[in-house]
Amino acid sequence: MTFDRLYQTLQDIDQAPWRDALQPILKHALDPNTHGDINRWNEALTLLPNTAPSQTNLDQNSITFGQKSDLSEQQWQDLKQQLMAFHPWRKGPLNVFGHEINTEWHSDWKWARAAPHIHCQDKTILDVGCGNGYYCFRMAGQGAKLALGIDPTLVFNMQYSAVKRYAPDAPAYVIPLGIEQLPEAVTGFDMVFSMGVFYHRKSPIEHLMELRQRLSPGGELVLETLIVDGPEHHCLVPKDRYAQMRNVWFLPSIKTLEAWMARCKYRDIKVIDVATTTIEEQRTTEWMHFQSLKDFLDEEDPSKTIEGYPAPKRVVIIAKAPA
Ligand SMILES: C[S@@+](CC[C@H](N)C(=O)[O-])C[C@H]1O[C@@H](n2cnc3c(N)ncnc32)[C@H](O)[C@@H]1O
Repeated sequence: MTFDRLYQTLQDIDQAPWRDALQPILKHALDPNTHGDINRWNEALTLLPNTAPSQTNLDQNSITFGQKSDLSEQQWQDLKQQLMAFHPWRKGPLNVFGHEINTEWHSDWKWARAAPHIHCQDKTILDVGCGNGYYCFRMAGQGAKLALGIDPTLVFNMQYSAVKRYAPDAPAYVIPLGIEQLPEAVTGFDMVFSMGVFYHRKSPIEHLMELRQRLSPGGELVLETLIVDGPEHHCLVPKDRYAQMRNVWFLPSIKTLEAWMARCKYRDIKVIDVATTTIEEQRTTEWMHFQSLKDFLDEEDPSKTIEGYPAPKRVVIIAKAPA
């Protein structure tokens, strides 16, 4: 994987300072010593068909990269195994030359809840904790000037690389960095997304601040996170695991979250969606064969997690950085 295309795009959109800040950091990001599976993934990348897709469609629920007839029968049969090298596929769905990657998450459902309230056209967008870049592709499909995703989990970066080669011109990019590793100079985005990340952060206020720092004055934050029912000042901090996840820290009520955002000087804070996560939206599939939400809910009472906490419910909030 090289980042040359990203650097060129940054140059093209007059963001050479972002390019200059990222280049030295990304130089060693995918060094084989940083992860035991890098060589295996790189080899799997080289096996993927070197075929230009006859069509790509980024602006549909199952993002499409090519169709079956673009490949020979043998290539098509081999492709499934090659894509499986990047298991677990969590965010999607994606369709690669007719292979429907039925991912753990119906990320298209989350997108459908947020999209009517979001305008990506000509925007520069940062997607913090972007996974394999599913939403970055959707943003590019809706006309974003740049959708830059950051995610430190390398297998998701590899999934992105596996499909990005079939949409090389899309201004959707994923780089293997956590928010804390992103150089300070990479700032001034029109929009910043943080979806499914806030509750993993030990310090929610610092997360709100670090997101604000990446926005241009008046820029828009799209925050999606787990919440619990309750009044202002109410917040669940799990004793240990939440739905079997070890790294869940703060699940505020909506009023509490709004108050925290206001404290961090966000304005025009709008709740655009509240949804309970269902076992149809997050589930074990052929492409993600580990346990999933159903296994993490109380068998007798699915309104609770197996630890006895309220089952996952999520909010999407849009707010603006100070002008
Ligand atoms: C629950 S997933 C959410 C993925 C996607 N945004 C969504 O809403 O479907 C959380 C993601 O945050 C990533 N992540 C973990 N630590 C991070 C950090 N320090 N900075 C940015 N992303 C991080 C994880 O690798 C994971 O892909």
